[in-house]
Amino acid sequence: MGAHGGWHPEDRVLLTGGSGRLGPYLVRELRRSPVVLQVWDGPTASVPSSPGAVPVDLADPAAVVRAWQVARPTVVIHAAALATVDVCLKDPARAEAINVTATRHLARLALHMGAHLAITSTDMVFDGTRAPYAVDAAPQPLSAYGGSKAAGERAALETGPCSVIRLALLYGPRLGTRPSFFDTQLAALRSGGPRMGLFTDEWRTPIDYATAARGVIDLASLRATGIWHVGGPERLSRWELGSRLADHLGIDHPPFDPVSRLSIPAPEPRPADLSLDSHAWRELCPHSPWPTLAEVLARDLPQS
Ligand SMILES: NC(=O)c1ccc[n+]([C@@H]2O[C@H](COP(=O)([O-])OP(=O)(O)OC[C@H]3O[C@@H](n4cnc5c(N)ncnc54)[C@H](OP(=O)(O)O)[C@@H]3O)[C@@H](O)[C@H]2O)c1
Repeated sequence: MGAHGGWHPEDRVLLTGGSGRLGPYLVRELRRSPVVLQVWDGPTASVPSSPGAVPVDLADPAAVVRAWQVARPTVVIHAAALATVDVCLKDPARAEAINVTATRHLARLALHMGAHLAITSTDMVFDGTRAPYAVDAAPQPLSAYGGSKAAGERAALETGPCSVIRLALLYGPRLGTRPSFFDTQLAALRSGGPRMGLFTDEWRTPIDYATAARGVIDLASLRATGIWHVGGPERLSRWELGSRLADHLGIDHPPFDPVSRLSIPAPEPRPADLSLDSHAWRELCPHSPWPTLAEVLARDLPQS
């Protein structure tokens, strides 16, 4: 794989979810690539998330076909989703429409129009009892969100050859307008509150947005079919993540409290350990960056 991944000179990339949290990182990385880029924002975007981005409602199949004919992609990176656990639980019909039906529609368009489809999925397709999860582990979601993403994966894989890229917990400062959990932690650390409980017994292999974006783009550019796990190099609890952020900022008494996920009532069970085994991705893309949390913090939040 060369410096610009596996792109072909004629590649036209369509990115969905430009207005989300991951979207702006994907746009930044794609703008460095030798491709023609068309970005679709969600339907609620009042201003384009990046120059030239257009709002397209994925729940409206006719609008999707019209916008597809304008974009004429050779590669589609599908990062739009109903990605909020609570909203998927409250509105399963919307989760099905966006995470499953719209994904199947994109897969059919890609198949019939000769484009390669790469979809982003999540570690939440697993139940957390058998980590670390290899790419061939059987999904067993505990949440409506995880269930809809697992069904979206199946819909895409059953339709035709595609890349299903499961991402671990994403972290890092926001690049677009939408704050992430990391931004909330950062704000609490900088202002001294409000206090936040962080789980000591929920483990992930967190990966920063920029590294995840590069991983997704490398796999999409190579048209790497099948299931891929893109997680970070360390297994960390949310408590460790917050504590290391506080240490990095030199804050001795952070407004964080260690709590057990079992002590907080939740409408759906929370998986204990969703660590992803990312070996297959690392073997295919050994030059794709893979920084530790300390390296990401030094890069994104340099301390004088
Ligand atoms: N964040 C994480 O920690 C994480 C971890 C693992 C995997 N993932 C996966 O990574 C991908 C990106 O996640 P994210 O955190 O960037 O999600 P996000 O911030 O919630 O963004 C979701 C994007 O989907 C768009 N969207 C929602 N409904 C739509 C519709 N009907 N038509 C068109 N677009 C629509 C949103 O548009 P609006 O601007 O209109 O809302 C937004 O651009 C998802 O596949 C998610 O499952 C995320």
